Amino acid sequence: MSRETWATRFGVILAVAGSAIGLGNFLRFPGQAVLHGGGAFMIAYLTAFLFLGLPIAWAEWTLGRYSGIRGYNSAAGIFRCVTKNRSMAYAGSLVVTLTTVISAFYIFVESWCLAYALRYLFGWMPDSNFDSVFKESAGLQGNGALFQSGFWNFNIFCLLFCLAFNYLLIYRGIVKGIEWFCSFALPCLLICALVMMFRVLTLGNPTGIEGQDLLNGLGFVWNPSQPDKTFLESLSDPETWLAAAGQVFFSLSLGFGVILTYASFARHDDDIALSSLTAAAANGFCEAVIAAMMIIPAAYMFLGPAFFTQENLGSAFTIGFQALPDVFAQMPMGQFFGFLFFFLLFLAAVTSSISTIQPAVTLLEEGLGLGRKASLTVAGTMITFGCFFTAYFTDNLLALATMDFWVCNIFVFLMAGVVIIIFGWVFGTKKGLAELNAGSQLRIPAWFGFVMKYISPLYLLIVFAAWAWLYLSERLVQIAGNSVVQMSLGFILFTALFNLFVTSQALIRWERKEKQQNNDQDGIFFSG
Ligand code: PFF
Repeated sequence: MSRETWATRFGVILAVAGSAIGLGNFLRFPGQAVLHGGGAFMIAYLTAFLFLGLPIAWAEWTLGRYSGIRGYNSAAGIFRCVTKNRSMAYAGSLVVTLTTVISAFYIFVESWCLAYALRYLFGWMPDSNFDSVFKESAGLQGNGALFQSGFWNFNIFCLLFCLAFNYLLIYRGIVKGIEWFCSFALPCLLICALVMMFRVLTLGNPTGIEGQDLLNGLGFVWNPSQPDKTFLESLSDPETWLAAAGQVFFSLSLGFGVILTYASFARHDDDIALSSLTAAAANGFCEAVIAAMMIIPAAYMFLGPAFFTQENLGSAFTIGFQALPDVFAQMPMGQFFGFLFFFLLFLAAVTSSISTIQPAVTLLEEGLGLGRKASLTVAGTMITFGCFFTAYFTDNLLALATMDFWVCNIFVFLMAGVVIIIFGWVFGTKKGLAELNAGSQLRIPAWFGFVMKYISPLYLLIVFAAWAWLYLSERLVQIAGNSVVQMSLGFILFTALFNLFVTSQALIRWERKEKQQNNDQDGIFFSG
């Protein structure tokens, strides 16, 4: 049987770029940049990109394609294939857990984007009091708030629509679903984003207030020294480096096994070194150029510096929903631009969320031998449960924040560490770089092997140790005292146990199949 691959060479780049470009670029990045010292954050971000982002991306692409050619597409199968160690399959199954948990909150935020886009499109957005629109959309009034007016309401409709749309794309498969959707959603969102950016950059000084013009807005994002901190203070704060590394992982979808899975469907002669760089560059452009010039400067011009409290900036995804409706209300053609912005967010979110569903589906297909429909039903049931869980426990968005925090700030460091150690120490950098350079026009020099083997793991270790030193005890106290936090961690644990079980069954199947293949080969040998 011929193995499934992307239809075109460009397909894998589109899919990986689609996974990378998402809410992390347009909502999370601007808030993080301002919160951690603007220009100083950019230095930490670029350093993390060079010493963590690129090496881990290349490692995932290499290990993914290598195993895909040998018939393994799930993270569990890939880890076993490259290490030749059966117990590493269990580590791979934990990677799949991360993406499933991300789906459980990411699709909830995606549904807010859809709800806002529809509100602007149909003129349902009020002229003022936007805070209450956000509270109502996210259910911030308290746990169960979204269900108070009955199950069938606008917000739940949007959530169900997003779930169904994601499942439909996954059901259509790698080529007809993911590749097809990304091939027009990405250009479309790029056009919307450029139009939005152009609009913001031509606003001048919309309110006429001194000190709130475009240059002040841009300076607020980029200036190395911020009003409350000097450049050196920001740069020497470990939190700046942690936040930057976390942003690189989240934004490039690294360490979550998405690239492993997507790259395993690449063809054996695809140029993975260049594809990886192209996808990362596209992501960086959307993040550090387009997004950085859009949201914060616009909010600064219309709302002034007083809006940027620690609270407004710190929450990873809410800034766009809280700040921008006010901005659009004061902007000429605000309804149109409001629609455009939230529609662009919705498209960006879908191309990312499908990449968080596919790894679990692939594990079930490959591990249990289930068809796509059955695998999607099982994975979809867990993800739908997770989404409704986050949509129910909306007091302070605690369920969402807990899953986001543990998966995207902690577990991802561990898993990224496993990937880079497998590449550098088990697979071997020499073999790894040869594999990475095979079929590539871009030659990754041998000295980069040194970075991948020593610098990246060390960098990860230091960042992770610094985090544990600063925050671990605080987080453990939070677990002990809050039942929503405990239940959210319970969901993560349940998903992990389920994936471990699937992997144990997969190992039995794989070993039986390989034994059979060996016997067949022996048979051919003896009869020949
Ligand atoms: N990279 C996506 C974003 O920037 O929004 C989010 C994401 C997708 C994270 C897939 C992790 C993942 F596995």
